[in-house]
Amino acid sequence: MTSCAVTGIGLLVTNDPARADGPLGEITNATVVVERGAIAWVGPAAAAPPADLGVDAGGGCVLPGFVDSHAHLVFAGDRAAEFAARMAGTPYSAGGIATTVAATRAAPDELLAAGIARLVAEMACGGTTTVEIKSGYGLTVADEVRGLALARAFTKETTFLGAHVVPPEYAGRTDDYVALVAGDMLDACAPYARWVDVFCDRGAFDADQARTVLDAGMAQGLAPRLHANQLAPGPGVRLGVELGAASVDHCTHLVDADVAALAGSATVATLLPGAEFSTRSPYPDARRLLDAGVTVALATDCNPGSSYTSSMAFCIALAVREMRMTPAEAVWSATAGGAAALRRGDIGVVRVGARADLVVLRAPSYVHLAYRPGVDLVASVFRAGRQLR
Ligand code: NIG
Ligand code: FE
Repeated sequence: MTSCAVTGIGLLVTNDPARADGPLGEITNATVVVERGAIAWVGPAAAAPPADLGVDAGGGCVLPGFVDSHAHLVFAGDRAAEFAARMAGTPYSAGGIATTVAATRAAPDELLAAGIARLVAEMACGGTTTVEIKSGYGLTVADEVRGLALARAFTKETTFLGAHVVPPEYAGRTDDYVALVAGDMLDACAPYARWVDVFCDRGAFDADQARTVLDAGMAQGLAPRLHANQLAPGPGVRLGVELGAASVDHCTHLVDADVAALAGSATVATLLPGAEFSTRSPYPDARRLLDAGVTVALATDCNPGSSYTSSMAFCIALAVREMRMTPAEAVWSATAGGAAALRRGDIGVVRVGARADLVVLRAPSYVHLAYRPGVDLVASVFRAGRQLR
């Protein structure tokens, strides 16, 4: 069995709570040894065991691969004109989703698969080693199954989002559409999904409709997560906590009861600052959540409407500058926080037994991810020990 040592690590972020140094379990002048795609040894370089091969991090900072726990990558077309109109003053609404639904339904499988591949490659270049991918731009039984089956080839973290919005052919018949989603559509999609998600918000689905879909999904073995409280205050976050959702995502408009519910729960609040940036909306109050003890994740929400970025580094910079997270909090949320939002213990951390997902920066510290916004600082990326960049 071949072992490979990553040497020359100026600063290693482990996220391992067993390591007391700094908020991120940091080790200076570290070595990581990888065997069979997993971390086999972590510690100070001076104490490292011999290895068969070596990779030199050049004195840079190394951190766990980013975990992007919220992305919509199955789509065709783009909405650049909608973005331009928004920047000129048109407000964002859930209605734009229909434009992408029409383009996605009309697209051949090969085009959709190529689009996913392009974005997953872009993410990998930026240091993302795990991505969750949602359906939700098909909104017919056949189109939702097709989207999930295509996504499955790229990740095991696939999410059935048939309840994204009510498609045009069901206008005025929301309850009929909910019955379809919780019935035939779910039956067909469940074999290709790990998660079930609902957009519970103004212009999308209310709490009863969301509960119907999530209960049905859970009965088929899918685990719940929600889009909640993005566009307006509402019941989504508390519904998610009540149902034991792994994560409630967006959390832009919260009342005290939402924060209290999250603080007393195992549900992660996933913040998606790319969406506020691209819709010119107020950012979520990350400090209020963190100060209440809520587990916070950061993700891109990569989609052609509200957040067409694949860059976790950009989201970290936004979280630090616009949401007053410390650089350490933002990096934790983009790695270990994302892993918590996906209920994964094998990623987002550099400790023995974890998957060998590592990002090597051309920078001495993770602080540079926010301090040098818009600069590509990723020197190399390893996923399960295999070099992606
Ligand atoms: O997470 N909020 C709902 N869904 C997406 C937006 C999708 C779109 O605008 O196409 C989101 O922001
Ligand atoms: Fe989303």
